[in-house]
Amino acid sequence: MRTLAALFALTASLVTRVQGQETHVSSFATAAVAADHELASQAGAEILKAGGNAVDAAVATSFALSVVRPYSCGIGGGGFMVIHLRQHPRTGPVTTAINYRETGPAWVTPTVFESDPDPDSPTHGPKAVCTPGTVAGLLYALEKYGTMSRAQVLAPAIRLAESGFLVDDHYANTAHHDDLVLPWFAKDATRRDRFRFLWDRFLMGGRVKVGDRIHVPEQARALRLIAEQGHDAFYKGEIARAIAKATDNRLTLADLESYRVKETPVLEHSWRGNRILTMPPPSSGGIVLAQTLAMLDRRDADLSRLVNAKAHNSAAYIHLLAETFKTSFADRARWMGDPDFVDVPTQRLLDSTYLYAMADAIDLSRTRSPETYGTPLPEDGGTSHLCVIDAQGNAVACTETINLIFGSMVAVEEFGFILNDEMDDFLTRTSRANAFGLAHAERNRPQPGKRPLSSMTPTIVVGADAGVRLIAGGAGGPRIISGTIQTLLNALAWDMPAGDAVRVPRFHHQWHPNRVELEPALEPGDVPAGLRDRGHDVGQRKVVGTIQVIRRGKGVWEAASDPRKGGKPAGY
Ligand code: GLY
Repeated sequence: MRTLAALFALTASLVTRVQGQETHVSSFATAAVAADHELASQAGAEILKAGGNAVDAAVATSFALSVVRPYSCGIGGGGFMVIHLRQHPRTGPVTTAINYRETGPAWVTPTVFESDPDPDSPTHGPKAVCTPGTVAGLLYALEKYGTMSRAQVLAPAIRLAESGFLVDDHYANTAHHDDLVLPWFAKDATRRDRFRFLWDRFLMGGRVKVGDRIHVPEQARALRLIAEQGHDAFYKGEIARAIAKATDNRLTLADLESYRVKETPVLEHSWRGNRILTMPPPSSGGIVLAQTLAMLDRRDADLSRLVNAKAHNSAAYIHLLAETFKTSFADRARWMGDPDFVDVPTQRLLDSTYLYAMADAIDLSRTRSPETYGTPLPEDGGTSHLCVIDAQGNAVACTETINLIFGSMVAVEEFGFILNDEMDDFLTRTSRANAFGLAHAERNRPQPGKRPLSSMTPTIVVGADAGVRLIAGGAGGPRIISGTIQTLLNALAWDMPAGDAVRVPRFHHQWHPNRVELEPALEPGDVPAGLRDRGHDVGQRKVVGTIQVIRRGKGVWEAASDPRKGGKPAGY
């Protein structure tokens, strides 16, 4: 793409409005970052312009997101990074995945939450916190696959933490959203004292609104220590002691010291001549994505008929995709977990004989009862995504999370960041689905050192010409998977430009509950009736994931941030 830079010196930017929110789409001749906050995209673009590669830029973007999206991700959380480097000065070409998912602390046992009288303990407060992996993962990626120093890539985030940032629509809406944050605080006055730092600093005493400036100089101090001392600053030193204190020692210094990043081969799936590079377990996202694409391959004639008829988001298309989701989410619930602790039958789940049989069973006129989906064997709104492409065509897809909005709500006050509540991504109570309504099997019980099952789906698509065609991923619990799949299909099967691919309305089905959920824009017209005619229970979901995408256009990189979260890409 570099040689095309001269031909496409102009960077085109386009803003459209969807449901009152802006979609920012930009075309860049050389390199781009799409994150779900403009300042974070700019942090990554600054590093690219200074000669950094895609990993340097991804690490800079992620540390910036830790400051400006404190309710989605950050140094108190964890994540996954899929890396595809055409060239690296030390390692040569590389395709790999970095797993820095949080781990269960030493105090947990598989059934410890069953008898806990506090219904909120897996989601709010010290017991919800798993050992954070983000700092370890980012520094591991930087040292092995980056080219710049810690000081260089952390500089933009440190600046942002020092200067503060303005509350945008998404921040304010999230804070005021039904039940999640301020309405949750309003139900019990003691919550303000329990989560005082969050209440005072990130929610401004309950009065937070668009345009307010959030200051977190404490996080600047944490980031400076990380820049100076590296991994140990967070996992052994002053920051580790502050984390132990903030969690009443539920998370101990030993938990932090023993945290290890894992590097793993990507999950690779071949689809229409492309290489789909995505995340293996403990994420469920890659398997669900690959299963869905395989089932669609088998039903290619049906998909092509819908594409030729321009029937995007028709009842027939939503039904076809929802039927594949029902199979793959049933498998997610039954079979997936941390492969270091349980046997995840990845090969069997991706076996084409099985998937083609499930695809053949799809009845285009009718949905089936839930027990008929998935392997028939007897067994039992936080989050943030960023995409980077650099001048050499190297790509990173990275998804990170503190789980629910503002995670556990526990702040490490001395260092100005919030700890995750990833405990709720484990099966904590037999009788209850988690906060995302997801069913889980025994294999996803909490254990010390174990990583909870995730839906994060960072994905890179490499075309038959060996060049990157698409980078995508998103936030939104299980809607990450359905949102990423729809965006990928929009871009590559429906041939939509990046902006349209993220903007158009979406739908979701996760097998349990047995309901197809439509974004409001899909409700007028004949779609709901067409789905009911096919036997679906039809519900509404205001937002089906928030997706970031970079797509190879004609001589440019089209980068788009989902209007549902208000990000904005940057590049050159
Ligand atoms: N915490 C959201 C996920 O990992 O799926």
